[in-house]
Amino acid sequence: ARIVALVSGSGTNLQALLDAIAADPEGYGARIVAVGADRDGIAGLERAERAGLPTFVCRVKDHATREEWDSALTEATAAYEPDLVVSAGFMKIVGKEFLARFGGRIVNTHPALLPSFPGAHGVRDALAYGVKVTGCTVHFVDDGVDTGPIIAQGVVEVRDEDDEAALHERIKEVERSLLVEVVGRLARHGYRIEGRKVIIP
Ligand code: GRF
Repeated sequence: ARIVALVSGSGTNLQALLDAIAADPEGYGARIVAVGADRDGIAGLERAERAGLPTFVCRVKDHATREEWDSALTEATAAYEPDLVVSAGFMKIVGKEFLARFGGRIVNTHPALLPSFPGAHGVRDALAYGVKVTGCTVHFVDDGVDTGPIIAQGVVEVRDEDDEAALHERIKEVERSLLVEVVGRLARHGYRIEGRKVIIP
């Protein structure tokens, strides 16, 4: 399977995928063919370049409207003919055109146990709420914010001494291995989505 990965930050989820594929290029069942971002100058793009991958950047501020940004992101992604789009810490909500083109084939990872704590501050919100366990969720993207069908989740305990950074780092350890495992399974076995259920044969 051909994957286009989308990043916005340090790209450690991307790196985990790159390392898993490099470790077993035949067996993993997928390869990343390009990496896109919504901003320049991030480690995620450096990781892609180090892996010799094509990259593209679609910045909202370069477009007159959000819809035009969405179109540009759709076209830039479509150029690589992905079977799966993996949002690995991509911090923008994709629009109607992107969903029309790739809906049902966009996997996102979120650092909380959805439906709890959706949105851009899931770790901070869980910590503030005082939950004793949180975790991460790998799900398909639908037209909501972090609301699509859940594929897998991992649980992480919250410690009394945790601040947001410490908790997020511990979540990311689980998140990276969950994302690698899920993407490989989807690529190798295929899947179907029935309502809110994801069936991987
Ligand atoms: C991940 O925890 C992701 O779920 C969240 O931001 C983080 C991105 O980390 N949206 P990285 O860029 O993959 O290191």
